[in-house]
Amino acid sequence: MRLLSKSILPLLASLLLFSACHNKRKSADAISAEDSVYMKKGDQVTKMAQAVLLSRVAMAMKEGGPPKAINVCSVEAESLLDSLSKEHECSISRISLKNRNPKAYPASRQEKEALLAFDGQSGKQPRLVRKGHELQYFKPIYIAMPACLKCHGTEGADIEQATLRLIKEKYPKDRARGYENGDFRGAWKLSFQLSPKQ
Ligand code: HEC
Repeated sequence: MRLLSKSILPLLASLLLFSACHNKRKSADAISAEDSVYMKKGDQVTKMAQAVLLSRVAMAMKEGGPPKAINVCSVEAESLLDSLSKEHECSISRISLKNRNPKAYPASRQEKEALLAFDGQSGKQPRLVRKGHELQYFKPIYIAMPACLKCHGTEGADIEQATLRLIKEKYPKDRARGYENGDFRGAWKLSFQLSPKQ
């Protein structure tokens, strides 16, 4: 009996260990399959939102310069993002540590962490965060073209006086100036509701 338990115990232990690892691997695979679906979806939706916003801003710039375009950013952008959110069954917003719209400041630890990670050396890749049944997708936004500087660059040099006046009037606590081309500006945040697992 003693001999038996001596030889069987390690076997049992290794079996248990094996099944524990096996289960772990199985659920990690399931998570990564779900992750890749949401990574793809997040990429598509943010690309679409970006394209829609950019084309509306560019059109308004042509029609009436920065003052008209500011109106697109402050009034139209929200309803554009709302309708895209409905269409794609998620909630789309933009967040920034140097924000213009007061509502764009990170509202949670997860949002702040995502922004700090994108801003640092640790990672520019989009990331997913789970919060109960909510899945959040974050993707960095950069000052990717000189046109952005007309409203986010240096006052006097990039931002015209009339534009600056309008921005200060609408956003007295604006922190979204002083950027240079290529700078990290903020992030897209998409929030999906996951259906509870059976
Ligand atoms: C015509 C002026 C104008 C231009 C050009 C412009 N923006 Fe903005 N931007 C704004 C305004 C106004 C807001 C605040 C919108 C709001 O009220 O939600 C804003 C908000 C943002 C936000 C949301 C976070 C925050 O701080 O409120 C991001 C991100 C952003 N802009 C990035 C960009 C990028 C990148 C470009 C260039 C592709 C760009 N902007 C070009 C005026 C502009």
